[in-house]
Amino acid sequence: MSKSIAGFSKLSKSKKIDWIVETYFSNTEDAKSVLKQYWNSNEKLQQLHDEFIENTITNYYLPLGVAPNFLINNKIYTIPMAIEESSVVAAASKAAKFWMDRGGFKTTVISTTKIGQVHFMYHGNPETLKNYFNYIKPQLISDAKPITKNMEKRGGGILDIELRDKTNAIEGYYQLHASFETLDAMGANFINSCLEQFAKTFKNEALTFDAFTDEDKNIQIIMSILSNYVPECLVRAEVSCKVEDLSDDASIPSEEFANKFVQAVKIAEIEPYRAVTHNKGIMNGIDAVVLATGNDFRAIEACVHAYASKNGSYSSLSHAKIENGIFTFWMEIPLALGTVGGLTGLHPLVKLSLELLHHPSAKELMEIVAVAGLAQNFAALRSLTTTGIQQGHMKMHLMNILNQFEATTTEKETLIEYFKNHIVSHSAVVDAIKNLRSKN
Ligand code: MEV
Repeated sequence: MSKSIAGFSKLSKSKKIDWIVETYFSNTEDAKSVLKQYWNSNEKLQQLHDEFIENTITNYYLPLGVAPNFLINNKIYTIPMAIEESSVVAAASKAAKFWMDRGGFKTTVISTTKIGQVHFMYHGNPETLKNYFNYIKPQLISDAKPITKNMEKRGGGILDIELRDKTNAIEGYYQLHASFETLDAMGANFINSCLEQFAKTFKNEALTFDAFTDEDKNIQIIMSILSNYVPECLVRAEVSCKVEDLSDDASIPSEEFANKFVQAVKIAEIEPYRAVTHNKGIMNGIDAVVLATGNDFRAIEACVHAYASKNGSYSSLSHAKIENGIFTFWMEIPLALGTVGGLTGLHPLVKLSLELLHHPSAKELMEIVAVAGLAQNFAALRSLTTTGIQQGHMKMHLMNILNQFEATTTEKETLIEYFKNHIVSHSAVVDAIKNLRSKN
């Protein structure tokens, strides 16, 4: 039976671990040593990680891999990817090489606007509220100057604030709907601080607005928070080539491959069951780069999937067509990313990843991340419409199975060679290990 505990966060790290292992584990020494084997011997580095969150007990490793040979707008990139799924980096690298030979990826940032809202309740005359909003709007902006002045110096800041009437959905519900340009910062703290200041000014100044009745003056602020839905923070990534150049696989002619590929994308456009998996493949690439560059993958995920449903039904994020003998595959996707602030200046691997990408601006990072997603989607659809996904997946999974069986380096080399010509399945690998071991 588990116990609850008071004041856990105030305990030292070692006392927290003592409590956890004593409460939950039968072999306390084993549990402790599993946790401690991931501590970094560099105490400063460990302390940095300890302080990212509360109640840190150890570090959780993910591999950081790289996918080289990405040609994006005629510039070559090696893209860092933090991910545990075995086939993702290999697939990205393969797609990068494939498109490198066909002119590479082309990208454009369409817009970079971010959104935040103050949600409030008001039960008086809507016209009077509109008048109040128009009267107070300049002050909303000027009261936020201490927060916005540095961002403004760099060319960003508050773009606009609108009053939105949502009383059709909830009685008395209105919003201050604000848009922002946060340049290279993800901007969460900036936006939330501005919103909280808007809320304060909006509520306080209402008390002395003559046209309000006493009851009108009692505006109730519910909350002030940025929106992770940023359909106007949008980037486009695209590849194209002559249909005849599309296949480099003798088993499928280019035209057949192009047609099957376009068909596969069309299916994901109309069939939500397929669209979710299709988009999951895109997110394999996107999340891995978002994580490696210290951005918030939960925000990106939430936004992207909302965007995939923008027409009322969940659909593919990517699209493909054949026109005049040219195959084009593209995606427009919302990505609110930052390359300054947050983890970007703190986590040594994030700093390294950004340096590897030539210190991109947020716009460039949007382009790189979108390309990683499109490349991943291309690789998945290419396998799905030709060899099937399992061939590649199981090849990569082979290493996981070998590691489960604690295969030695020599055993790994022998079995990797063996499975170049044999179908990988869990049982086939287990049999092959047993067979090999019985011979030695
Ligand atoms: C697996 O992680 C991703 C795929 O399922 C994506 C897809 O089906 O398009 C291969």
